[in-house]
Amino acid sequence: MLVTARSFEEYRAMFALTDKDLALRVLDCPAGAAGFAAEAGARGTDVVAVDPQYGPNASRLGRLALHEIEHRHRYVTESATRYEWSWFGGPERYTRLRADSARAFAADIEAHPERYVEGALPQLTFPERSFDLVLSSHLLFSYGARLSEEFHLSALIELVRVARREVRIFPVVLHTSDRRYAGLDRLRTALDGLGVPSRLDRVDYVFQPGADETLVLDCAVHGPLPTARPGAEDHDPVRWRHLEGTDAAPPP
Ligand SMILES: C[S@@+](CC[C@H](N)C(=O)[O-])C[C@H]1O[C@@H](n2cnc3c(N)ncnc32)[C@H](O)[C@@H]1O
Repeated sequence: MLVTARSFEEYRAMFALTDKDLALRVLDCPAGAAGFAAEAGARGTDVVAVDPQYGPNASRLGRLALHEIEHRHRYVTESATRYEWSWFGGPERYTRLRADSARAFAADIEAHPERYVEGALPQLTFPERSFDLVLSSHLLFSYGARLSEEFHLSALIELVRVARREVRIFPVVLHTSDRRYAGLDRLRTALDGLGVPSRLDRVDYVFQPGADETLVLDCAVHGPLPTARPGAEDHDPVRWRHLEGTDAAPPP
């Protein structure tokens, strides 16, 4: 299965992370081969990374991500006009950051396996309010063409369940589009009904055109969350593939 490796710098920009945020207990879900947990952990953040691709074969993910990054370098160089380069500067820095990130992930999962937990939304194994801040990049909304709205609601409620303060999700557009996920307002209304207000923050990170907003869920004072949630059955992360054909544009 294809795996991506966004960098600590990208996470900091996508989620508008401050030094105060990085002093909190943080969950990254899904983390893939991102370098966030490695770099944040090295800086002293109490961080946990979750992905269904961890487990016995997790150590090969860094290699897979590096292979994918080579494929993407060709693609983003040849298709440079499809992307916004104001944050990365150009394909060279894009590839360097992602490759460094995949290497940092590969070294860290060997050195600190306790940071990397196999798991899948919409059901995580952590007790309620285990993390101050929960970050989720490039699964929800990004793959909205493939994941049902019910799955999204169940996954969002699960992320809220394990958060004490906030959940931040980036981006809010499909990876194939510059438009917000169609069910976004309905999902926000449903969460509001559970006592989870939300806002959309514009952030100083853009690569995929139109993808420059983070959804922030305020988890501080919600009421009881529903325990039976539909949507889990429509998504098998083991069989799921990011790319279905060789002609498909790689996700950003
Ligand atoms: C595009 S990657 C994003 C990874 C990382 N956040 C980054 O930005 O590099 C999407 C990740 O979602 C993971 N995934 C797929 N289904 C999932 C699920 N049900 N729950 C949690 N993660 C899932 C995949 O294994 C993959 O690593």
